[in-house]
Amino acid sequence: MNDDCDCVLFSQTQIEEGVRALASRLTKEYQGKNPLFVCILKGSVFFFSDLVRWINIPCELDFVSVSSYGRGTVSGELTVKKDLSCDVSGRHVVLVEDIIDSGNTLFKLKNLLKARNPASLKIVTLLDKPARREAPISADDSCFTVGDEFVVGYGLDYAERYRNLPFIGVLKRCVYEK
Ligand code: PRP
Repeated sequence: MNDDCDCVLFSQTQIEEGVRALASRLTKEYQGKNPLFVCILKGSVFFFSDLVRWINIPCELDFVSVSSYGRGTVSGELTVKKDLSCDVSGRHVVLVEDIIDSGNTLFKLKNLLKARNPASLKIVTLLDKPARREAPISADDSCFTVGDEFVVGYGLDYAERYRNLPFIGVLKRCVYEK
């Protein structure tokens, strides 16, 4: 356990079980559809790379990097720092997110990609935090639901730190209230 964490919320074993179960559901759903899995950088990096390795059908991978300004407002600007390499028109797209918090980032990204006419667009997330939702968006599937705690690890950061923790932990309040 990292000294800056109060507790381990999800261990490596629990994460693997949750990710494998989601991969199994997606494998069944996307048989014969050659889905395009999209990693939303950077927080999703470990979740994405573990998830797609358990997907047991032909699929393709792509990466996007966005930043959401005016986090309190649904109408804030979405800046695309790195766009997709693929044309999503007519494709079955699965957006892979690490956490849906306010939902503002994903709401804007979803609208951006829907305008490119994918055949379908599904949102999957490692962690769903519905208590803090502001934008009208929900995950289509998720591994875990969390309460209103500051979680880090397995890709999730605080000020770019803790992403490399192999578990998901609750950050001590004193770390981010200093
Ligand atoms: C985090 C996280 C989600 C988003 C969730 O990304 O990875 O993309 O915030 O928050 P929201 O639901 O309130 O919009 P961040 O912009 O911190 O970038 P990162 O993935 O590089 O950490």
